[in-house]
Amino acid sequence: MTVDLVVRNCTVVTPAGRTPDAGVAVEDGEIVAVGRSDRLPDADRVLDAEGNVLVPGIVDGHIHNREPGLEYKEDWESATRAAAAGGVTTVVGMPNTDPVIDRPDHLELKFERGEASAHVDFQSYAVVTSENLDLIPDIDEAGALGFKIFLGSTVGDVPPPNDGEIIEAMEKIQETGKRLGFHEENGEIIDHYTEKFQAEGRNEPIDHSHSRPVIAEREAVERMITFAEETGAKIHMFHVSSGSAAEAVARGKERGVDVTAETTPHYLWFTEEVMREKGNPARIQPPIRNAAEREQLWRVGIDDGAIDSIATDHAPHTPEEKKVDDPFGNTWEAISGFVGLETEIPVMLTFVDQGRLTMEEWVRRHSTRPAQIWGMYPRKGSLQVGTDADFTIVDPDREWTLEDADELHSKNCVTPFIGESFTGKAVATVVRGEIVAEDGNVVGESGYGTRVDVDT
Ligand code: DOR
Ligand code: ZN
Repeated sequence: MTVDLVVRNCTVVTPAGRTPDAGVAVEDGEIVAVGRSDRLPDADRVLDAEGNVLVPGIVDGHIHNREPGLEYKEDWESATRAAAAGGVTTVVGMPNTDPVIDRPDHLELKFERGEASAHVDFQSYAVVTSENLDLIPDIDEAGALGFKIFLGSTVGDVPPPNDGEIIEAMEKIQETGKRLGFHEENGEIIDHYTEKFQAEGRNEPIDHSHSRPVIAEREAVERMITFAEETGAKIHMFHVSSGSAAEAVARGKERGVDVTAETTPHYLWFTEEVMREKGNPARIQPPIRNAAEREQLWRVGIDDGAIDSIATDHAPHTPEEKKVDDPFGNTWEAISGFVGLETEIPVMLTFVDQGRLTMEEWVRRHSTRPAQIWGMYPRKGSLQVGTDADFTIVDPDREWTLEDADELHSKNCVTPFIGESFTGKAVATVVRGEIVAEDGNVVGESGYGTRVDVDT
């Protein structure tokens, strides 16, 4: 038997463990065998992984791809180019585009644009506002991966529904079987402190962080968990930034609520001191927290398991919008968010190198769990025979420093990770049996990526 592709000479790592001297065989875009290199079939194409580590394709359940409407920041092509270069095989786009993804036709437009230009596989969330509760079944039919509510004001200014509407949305979404995720910050608290600080002339980047205190996040998590306990809804907490919020998630799980949670590499890597060191480029919502909150996030979230998944919150903006030329200038004139697709794997591998989590635990949180949470498993997030041949090959020993934004592939590459040093990097990205990137160079075709169909 001769198959299309065989990858040999790697250590295969899944949450279940690691197999040295192993590899994967692919036929028609699907995995047909995983096992010892010397037992794999012959292939038309053989990729020698040179002793590196092969893991199921990394799934990023939280990116802002900006298309439709905000293509001056990023589009499907550039976001998925960055994903491919960074080792990410599936991405899920956020709905705060222009128009916002709040109707079936807007979702269809977003899918069409992705089909035309994506390098890796993709999906999208739809937003729920006061205006579209009745459309939830139609949006579900149109194929949204899940739903999102923005509880507090953030980029895009999508207004939050009131608490009654949120409960109704949970009931309607529960009927679809899908999950509802939140931007969980209490809007009244952050609006109050934002206005107060602005009136007092507190305009430094760190003031932006303090205007969105941990209590705003913790309260929003606890309120949504209470609503889900009542309605039975499946809920998700996007970008959990603090140990206090992770603790609230843990208590919700103990109470039997179907609540999942993600955090991002930047909350695990930096403390709020980064706002004093790097200024507005590090501005993000929710903000990067103090050292005590970060340690608690590690302990409760990663060590004890309250955090299910890792995602980037890849949020490109132009250097002007980020005030790159005036990093410590008036923070209220700067925008929140920065790119992450090409640093997420290096950050996580650096933590693995430091012994802060095992390679298996990293793979579980960065591939298996996001695929399971959003209903894409085992087609995505596994190396099971008969599923999509998506995998990421990483060199866990590669030491490197991100010197310059030019090394990245997004349209706009502002990130506080410039100047940071890592141990580990993706060296090949394979989507449905096609090599889409090698050694940081994108070699796949724009338009190869396809929507992950979750309804079939
Ligand atoms: O910092 C952020 N940027 N937080 C969000 O909630 C949205 C995101 C964006 O779209 O830029
Ligand atoms: Zn986001």
